[in-house]
Amino acid sequence: MKGIILAGGSGTRLHPLTLVVSKQLLPIYDKPMVYYPLSVLMQAGIKEVLLISTPSDIHNFERLLGDGSKFGIRIEYKVQPSPDGLAQAFILGADFIGDDSVALVLGDNIFHGAGFSDLLERAVQKVEKDHVAVVFGNYVKDPERYGVATFNKQGNVRSIEEKPENPNSNYAVVGLYFYPNSVIKIAKGLQPSKRGELEITAVNQYYLKEECLDMQILSRGFAWLDTGTHEALTEATEFVKAVEKRTGLKISCLEEIALMQKWISPEELQLQVKDLKGDYYDYIKQVVLRIKK
Ligand code: DAU
Repeated sequence: MKGIILAGGSGTRLHPLTLVVSKQLLPIYDKPMVYYPLSVLMQAGIKEVLLISTPSDIHNFERLLGDGSKFGIRIEYKVQPSPDGLAQAFILGADFIGDDSVALVLGDNIFHGAGFSDLLERAVQKVEKDHVAVVFGNYVKDPERYGVATFNKQGNVRSIEEKPENPNSNYAVVGLYFYPNSVIKIAKGLQPSKRGELEITAVNQYYLKEECLDMQILSRGFAWLDTGTHEALTEATEFVKAVEKRTGLKISCLEEIALMQKWISPEELQLQVKDLKGDYYDYIKQVVLRIKK
């Protein structure tokens, strides 16, 4: 399975913060925002990643993440000339995806919870074995801001709607989607919505109609964090800080995940961080020492 991170958009709601810096490069406590969605793909076992961003921001992502080799993965880059919708990712990424299945994660979504890696691995397996789409629902207090799913009595998805004015459920569809290869064709066949975008919700509605949509509900203890407003940004930082301080473990440390996946060796990583300073790299040095014991 391939992975796509969509990290474009105009970020106008966060101006002036995002006037000269991409939203997905803003700090969430001790690392840039994009580290969090990238860590999701890596935890799903995905080693080939396409990062899509705006013409003015793409180079900064390249400077930050390079070709991915420092994390034992391969990262390619693609420009989205204008923010024409989330589903455009599959059209822009068609050559990159090739004949493979694909996971899409939004560059501003943060996930944290127990058993997440297992959940991700099961999603990848389901898509590859059963050729169905896998999406995730999370209970929120303000569903009108998101794609919203409703369920029938048996607990199966009945409908998915994009930002309904009067939502019939509190279950938001989160910004992480797993699709079989057919998603390229579906995206290419979409018409822009009323707001002029190729909607990811339209893709999900297609799979739902074909009875090929599997929705998993994230459990209550699971954290799906929003970064859409100044307040939400600060809260995300506070959340990561609190968890990291309490446990002494870092959330979404890409080098640590690469090490656990055995995509880079402790020796390689030790060499990589030898001359790097600061709390993030001190943590990595400790992880390496622990693993080498
Ligand atoms: O966060 C989950 C929600 O994401 C879903 O529940 C909704 O169904 C889905 O439409 C999306 O809603 P948003 O209103 O959050 O989408 P937004 O336009 O803010 O875009 C999400 C991210 O993707 C944001 O970081 C900007 C980026 N983006 C967006 C568009 C439209 C792009 O890179 N390119 C685009 O064309």
